[in-house]
Amino acid sequence: MPGWPTASALNAVNHQTQDYASERFMKHSGNHTGSAAKHHFTRNLADETATLALGAEIAAILHSGLVIFLSGDLGAGKTTLTRGILRSLGFQGKVTSPTYNLVELYKISRLYFYHFDFYRFNDPIEWEDAGFREYFNADSICLVEWPEKAGGLLPGADLQFLLHVTETGRNVEIQADTEAGRRCLKHWRSLMNP
Ligand SMILES: Nc1ncnc2c1ncn2[C@@H]1O[C@H](COP(=O)(O)OP(=O)(O)OP(=O)(O)O)[C@@H](O)[C@H]1O
Ligand SMILES: [Mg+2]
Repeated sequence: MPGWPTASALNAVNHQTQDYASERFMKHSGNHTGSAAKHHFTRNLADETATLALGAEIAAILHSGLVIFLSGDLGAGKTTLTRGILRSLGFQGKVTSPTYNLVELYKISRLYFYHFDFYRFNDPIEWEDAGFREYFNADSICLVEWPEKAGGLLPGADLQFLLHVTETGRNVEIQADTEAGRRCLKHWRSLMNP
């Protein structure tokens, strides 16, 4: 996972987040300078409702063709965040982790939203046999839990969300890795500060 900060850098961010709790976005306190700093943010999520609300914010900036990675330990809140996104996109049904079949398709209006969970993925042949590669195309949004378990098979992410369990809730780091991802974060900021 490129570019994630060290634990001490994260602690620094945690303290800052408490100091500036009113700010919706936190600029990462690491070595980024200039415009690069705008492509990496940290947010506190006090409870499950906050995670779902973040999902709604993400839903507002998504468009087809994007690849999103959700990382973090077991129980960090990846599926909750996905549920928040899907609900805000208009999906009314149940959203659970596709742990055994690895992927769940949500067809919402004209959008194909693929929710992958590679926690139990261990055979690259399965990737080819299932035709997963074709799912990553310009007409779909692919959101992936546990992308690290698929190794180098996956295309790169446009946006990455790294969730950390804290004493009272969660922290999430948000990072754009491509031009498309950076445009999404820019759009997000414009929605927050019109
Ligand atoms: N901000 C939050 N603060 C506290 N609890 C939260 C927060 N967000 C989600 N949770 C809770 O964390 C639990 C686990 O969430 P979830 O299933 O989304 O994790 P996950 O990262 O998808 O786990 P897995 O790796 O097993 O798929 C749920 O009970 C959810 O309510
Ligand atoms: Mg999950």
